[in-house]
Amino acid sequence: METRQQSIYDHPKYYDLVFGSDCAAELRFIRQCAAMYCLGTAKRMFEPACGTGRLLFHLARKGFTVGGVDLNTQAVQFCNQRLTRHGIADRVFVGDMSAFELAPQADVAFNTINSFRHLTSERAARAHLNCMAAAVRPGGIYLLGIHLTPTTAPPSDTESWAARRGALAITTRMWTNARDAKTRLERFGIEFIVETPKRQLRIADELVLRSYTDLQMQRLLGHCGHWQIVGTYDFAYDITHPIEVDSSTEDVVYVLRRQAKPIRSPPV
Ligand SMILES: C[S@@+](CC[C@H](N)C(=O)[O-])C[C@H]1O[C@@H](n2cnc3c(N)ncnc32)[C@H](O)[C@@H]1O
Repeated sequence: METRQQSIYDHPKYYDLVFGSDCAAELRFIRQCAAMYCLGTAKRMFEPACGTGRLLFHLARKGFTVGGVDLNTQAVQFCNQRLTRHGIADRVFVGDMSAFELAPQADVAFNTINSFRHLTSERAARAHLNCMAAAVRPGGIYLLGIHLTPTTAPPSDTESWAARRGALAITTRMWTNARDAKTRLERFGIEFIVETPKRQLRIADELVLRSYTDLQMQRLLGHCGHWQIVGTYDFAYDITHPIEVDSSTEDVVYVLRRQAKPIRSPPV
């Protein structure tokens, strides 16, 4: 089988199938959080690190005004082409989620499945939260979904799943290559095995993600001061089942509400 060492994000068609084939629960959850936690009207949605816009596209079709930013030009092009194809005028743009400006401000922003962890330094993470505070209006919300590093349970190490659209089938596997507790950088191997009736292709990549314990996340949010945690859920995206985050929690979606004035939280 042919193997290519390439970024999985340079293959938006494959990425979109792998991560976009089953996003109904995420979409429902975003809309439910908007109704429950956003103060005032929730009309404008924004996604930092939007990738192919697998979520934005469906939200636009439901009547929301959407926008997004992503570093990857191919993903942005894929997203904008799909919006155009469906007669949607909104656009996403190429940029860094820790250095961008947005106008007008969004009511609801979301960043699921660990994209935030692509920011590999404290400085970039803080810059992102500050950019997002400028991008979301007071009373608006930011749903931030990440895998935490549990401190009282061993973290999960491998994951594998399959997706199919017509004759195109993709099996994805993800595993841990290295964890460095000091730098908090984790290296994950990821591969797409792409199969059609005519060919088989393996795309192999490595993702470098910053790790967070719940405490590190709370400190970061406390430092920024613009965001208050108003809800916590897991990746089951069940609005009727908020979770208590503790030292064994692995996946969490923080529901953050943008404060009108920065809050000073006691040190954690
Ligand atoms: C796991 S994908 C998620 C894409 C999309 N949010 C989704 O849910 O399908 C992570 C995305 O983060 C983008 N990314 C990584 N670092 C970034 C940065 N500094 N600024 C903007 N986008 C970034 C990648 O290009 C990629 O599209």
